[in-house]
Amino acid sequence: MLPFLAILAAGLASSVRAVTVYSQQTFGAATTSAAAASYTGAAAYDPTVLNAPAVPNPAPATQFSVQLQSQASAVQGLSIPQSGSFLGFSIEMSVINQILGSNSSFVQVPFLNLMSNLATRGGHVNVRVGGNTQDFATLVDSLADGKMMEKDLEGVSNPTQTPPLLFTPDVLYLMNNISSLVNVRWYLGIPLNDSQNLRLGIAEAAEQILGDNLLGFQVGNEPDLYADHGHRAPGYSQFDYFGEFGSVIAAIASNDQILVKNNLIGPNLATGDWTPEMVWDTGFITSYSSSLGALGVEHYPDNNCAAQFGTDAQAKDPQTVFSDYLNHTSGQLLVQPYLNSTGIAQGAGKPFIMFETNSASCGGFPGVSNSYGSALWMLDYGMQMAHSNFSGAHVHIGGQNVYYNPFTPPPTNQSTFHQWTIGPIYYASMIIAEAFGNSNQSQIIDMFANDANMYTPAYAIYDNGSPSKVALFNYITDSSGASNLNVAVSINGATVPSSVKVKRLSAESVSTKSNITWAGQTFGGSFESDGRLVGDLDIETVNCDTGNNVCQISVPAPGFALVFLSDDALTDADQASTVQTFSTTAVTKTVNTATIDASVLATSNGHSGKDRKLGSTSKGSSSDAPRSTATSAFAAVAAMAFGAIVLVGRTWM
Ligand SMILES: *[C@@H]1O[C@H](CO)[C@@H](O)[C@H](O)[C@H]1NC(C)=O
Ligand SMILES: *[C@@H]1O[C@H](CO)[C@@H](O)[C@H](O)[C@H]1NC(C)=O
Ligand SMILES: *[C@@H]1O[C@H](CO)[C@@H](O)[C@H](O)[C@H]1NC(C)=O
Ligand SMILES: *[C@@H]1O[C@H](CO)[C@@H](O)[C@H](O)[C@H]1NC(C)=O
Ligand SMILES: *[C@@H]1O[C@H](CO)[C@@H](O)[C@H](O)[C@H]1NC(C)=O
Ligand SMILES: *[C@@H]1O[C@H](CO)[C@@H](O)[C@H](O)[C@H]1NC(C)=O
Ligand SMILES: *[C@@H]1O[C@H](CO)[C@@H](O)[C@H](O)[C@H]1NC(C)=O
Ligand SMILES: *[C@@H]1O[C@H](CO)[C@@H](O)[C@H](O)[C@H]1NC(C)=O
Ligand SMILES: *[C@@H]1O[C@H](CO)[C@@H](O)[C@H](O)[C@H]1NC(C)=O
Repeated sequence: MLPFLAILAAGLASSVRAVTVYSQQTFGAATTSAAAASYTGAAAYDPTVLNAPAVPNPAPATQFSVQLQSQASAVQGLSIPQSGSFLGFSIEMSVINQILGSNSSFVQVPFLNLMSNLATRGGHVNVRVGGNTQDFATLVDSLADGKMMEKDLEGVSNPTQTPPLLFTPDVLYLMNNISSLVNVRWYLGIPLNDSQNLRLGIAEAAEQILGDNLLGFQVGNEPDLYADHGHRAPGYSQFDYFGEFGSVIAAIASNDQILVKNNLIGPNLATGDWTPEMVWDTGFITSYSSSLGALGVEHYPDNNCAAQFGTDAQAKDPQTVFSDYLNHTSGQLLVQPYLNSTGIAQGAGKPFIMFETNSASCGGFPGVSNSYGSALWMLDYGMQMAHSNFSGAHVHIGGQNVYYNPFTPPPTNQSTFHQWTIGPIYYASMIIAEAFGNSNQSQIIDMFANDANMYTPAYAIYDNGSPSKVALFNYITDSSGASNLNVAVSINGATVPSSVKVKRLSAESVSTKSNITWAGQTFGGSFESDGRLVGDLDIETVNCDTGNNVCQISVPAPGFALVFLSDDALTDADQASTVQTFSTTAVTKTVNTATIDASVLATSNGHSGKDRKLGSTSKGSSSDAPRSTATSAFAAVAAMAFGAIVLVGRTWM
């Protein structure tokens, strides 16, 4: 365990966008439920449940139609072609030993399962490893303790508590080993804290070790905040950044160990103090075009710094901000500052990527960032970015002490009896992977449905030029049924199929935290998942009225429905239920309070994990609940034979 470190405060301006807390300190927060009021554990498991906002007045119409075109070419404003990897993840570099594995031979099995869920649906997964830590990270040959990574907590020197990080090439072998099991590809960062003395070791080693699994290198992380954070002298400008980017290009040009010279990414603005246009106006894109693999930005719509770091600003009340995440305007406002830039990027032939985002910096808000509402919000925001011609986005993952993680491993000393906690926001990545599919030819459009009512957005997805899916949202919570929607989906220039399939992301309220299902399946609540969906798959068939060319789709309040229109889309939906999963042969050490059904462990070893009723080791859950097996979080990747993956487990701890 890391020693407690006082979280400092002074100087953390509200412009701070992305902060990961590195020490294992716990803190309380504004709470509204009794359980939460007495909660003192880590933020990632905070039980705060807020109140759902009241039904809006006036309420939106509950009956409306959404009309697609039989040919994508007839649709104005359709996005550029998108891939199922659109909504990937950003992992703070300092926590990769918790999320990915402790070294190249001990991969976190739940992580593999979580990535497999996405790769099966979307073809591949993009993961960015970086964040504030990347600028100070240094590659070394080895570390005295034999570990792959070490934080120099003594060296914490800046307002965001970023510890300098030492890491060995084993980190890169670990990533490549993951890529050999699941189709995950990686973005990394070249450290830029000192552009006079560049440390290009990561680029030299990553290119060699990761090969095609390496997507590119960010140069700089939120340079518009460098001066605010004390990493550069006051007055540091976009022209200074332009100069430093040029130094990196020059150093790579003369480095004969780095063969790929066109995979750099900038400017990675927090879009706090600078606008993207300020950087474009330096000539950045034209000057560096031959070195740029993509253009990147990073952004959070809000911050919870006052509550988490005790700055002098007034702490925000989670209940008050909750409604900011429960309407379609939120995603539209988030992409608005980048619309000019996505057009410029298209003109320059460069992908435009949101490298790091989530609900709020400084860890998110309790009850907001980990609610069903946040899943709806991220789904809408992700689709809005796709509609707006971003080419991808990464949902950020911090440590135990943030609320917004899409997934969180248990604290190290609980890994024998606790499993992972899957945040609602993970479902958004999985559903976008499924919605966009694996053709790389999906085009997205915001339908401005229901007279553009902010509570009932809809998107259409065309695949290879034909209508493929419709995504329908209802942000309202209303158990009376009066706010349920009936959406009439039709296709202009063609007849609707005689029936369509519907998958739903369901929960009783936008404030729900754990009782969330996707097509009937769930990852459960805190400490309950090994990364596999459990429960019976429930794909609804809705008969359509071919005479009137309409399919009536209901969407409860709250709700999200993905309607599969074409045969290809149906095939994809079926495929998604045959996810390759990973389990281990590990026997978990029995720990006092944990319930471990040894026979369940024995029969679950090495199988796919499909179609079985499994026991649980989560404290307090029943042994016949439809939960996944308890296994050691770590497995040794021992062999790959006959195309099958064999994971030989190890007793851990
Ligand atoms: C890898 O990590 C596991 C689990 O922490 C540990 O038991 C093993 O010794 C490590 N291997 C190496 C080569 O450090
Ligand atoms: C940059 O970071 C490295 C690694 O933490 C450190 O050794 C070095 O002193 C830093 N340089 C500057 C100019 O801050
Ligand atoms: C994992 O990485 C190690 C290097 O540390 C390598 O020897 C091993 O072959 C890799 N395993 C797989 C399955 O790629
Ligand atoms: C778009 O960005 C370019 C480059 O910075 C700028 O010249 C132009 O005025 C911008 N257009 C809009 C509509 O903001
Ligand atoms: C909708 O979301 C926006 C952006 O988050 C927020 O400013 C606005 O207050 C919300 N509207 C309502 C009616 O809640
Ligand atoms: C996205 O790009 C397409 C193709 O260039 C264009 O037609 C569409 O208007 C763009 N969408 C937005 C929101 O800029
Ligand atoms: C795990 O470690 C934390 C922090 O040191 C401690 O408070 C907690 O009681 C430990 N839990 C168990 C189950 O050992
Ligand atoms: C989609 O794009 C990825 C990444 O470029 C590529 O690996 C994959 O083969 C493509 N899939 C198809 C069906 O073209
Ligand atoms: C979980 O959700 C299902 C379906 O929405 C509902 O029937 C069930 O009562 C819920 N369980 C709890 C504990 O809220």
